[in-house]
Amino acid sequence: MKAVRFHEVGGPEVLRYEEVERPEPATGQVRLRVAASAFNAADNGMRAGFLPIPVVLPHVPGYDVSGVVDAIGDGVAGVAVGDTVIGFLPMERDGGAAEYVIAPADALTAAPTSIPLADAAALPSVALTAWQALFDEGQLEAGQRLLIVGAGGVVGKYAIRLAKRAGVHVIATASPRSIDAVRAAGADDIIDHTRTDLLSAVEGRVDVLLNLAPIDPEEFASLVSLVRDGGAVVSTTAFMATPGDDARGVRTATVFVLPNRQRLTELVALVDDGELVVEVTRRIPLTELAALHAEASVGRVPGKVIVLAE
Ligand SMILES: NC(=O)c1ccc[n+]([C@@H]2O[C@H](COP(=O)([O-])OP(=O)(O)OC[C@H]3O[C@@H](n4cnc5c(N)ncnc54)[C@H](OP(=O)(O)O)[C@@H]3O)[C@@H](O)[C@H]2O)c1
Repeated sequence: MKAVRFHEVGGPEVLRYEEVERPEPATGQVRLRVAASAFNAADNGMRAGFLPIPVVLPHVPGYDVSGVVDAIGDGVAGVAVGDTVIGFLPMERDGGAAEYVIAPADALTAAPTSIPLADAAALPSVALTAWQALFDEGQLEAGQRLLIVGAGGVVGKYAIRLAKRAGVHVIATASPRSIDAVRAAGADDIIDHTRTDLLSAVEGRVDVLLNLAPIDPEEFASLVSLVRDGGAVVSTTAFMATPGDDARGVRTATVFVLPNRQRLTELVALVDDGELVVEVTRRIPLTELAALHAEASVGRVPGKVIVLAE
């Protein structure tokens, strides 16, 4: 089969599109005929050796995947050949930038039926990040107020929709390029962070501040004053510390997204109910993955890109 692998960590040039032996599923595993994998910033960080994830080399990137089950190992129940599935695969193991991938059966859930199977690869880790940030770490409840900084990105739009359906009032920051998308996702109040000072634009305090943007750490620290006593500051930008305020009981949480099959199943149901929208900005072939990594190495790749296996 064809796969993209890196044999050593380094720049985008270490990615090789090459012929690889088709893997066989062991006990508890299934093999997928990959429809697509998604590109995440963490794929870039793992290839570059920036992230402390113990990948075995050579490594196939692409831990968010969609595909069709085509072989089943011993001891697997509840999954059949021909099932269409998605999953957030263990990051240290081979991912879906290949024609086939081996997946633990318990990492997979039925794919949404309302969107193309390939596009469904865009959902798992990103939507799980939003859920984990809002409800596991933020512990948001109906009637509370949430401020999302960087709401116009991939995680942000899932976060807005999930928070709104939970009865939360959402204040979102977005630059002009993202304002329409943030409004469409359902934000109650939108603040253009390129023209407005956030500290003066937010009226009253919020229960949770969720940061999704690469803002200056000093600016991030100043925003803690917008959080009520006993509230929370949650961040997915794990490369910088999350500020809080012990004296006022403002706790902090940094999200490191974890696989959660049951929750992913719930997210799939929300997609099929039309409550979550899976947006894919580009679909590229496997042969262009190294070029995509090169693009991500010098700047932000906007939106969600999926990598088609054929
Ligand atoms: N820790 C984890 O487990 C985990 C998991 C997933 C993602 N992440 C990280 O979480 C972050 C968000 O992910 P994402 O996929 O949503 O990223 P994204 O699509 O790049 O979105 C980030 C948003 O930040 C906004 N932004 C940039 N500079 C800003 C500034 N100075 N002030 C306010 N907003 C600003 C941009 O808004 P505009 O569009 O309005 O310009 C952009 O839409 C990324 O750093 C990602 O790597 C972490």
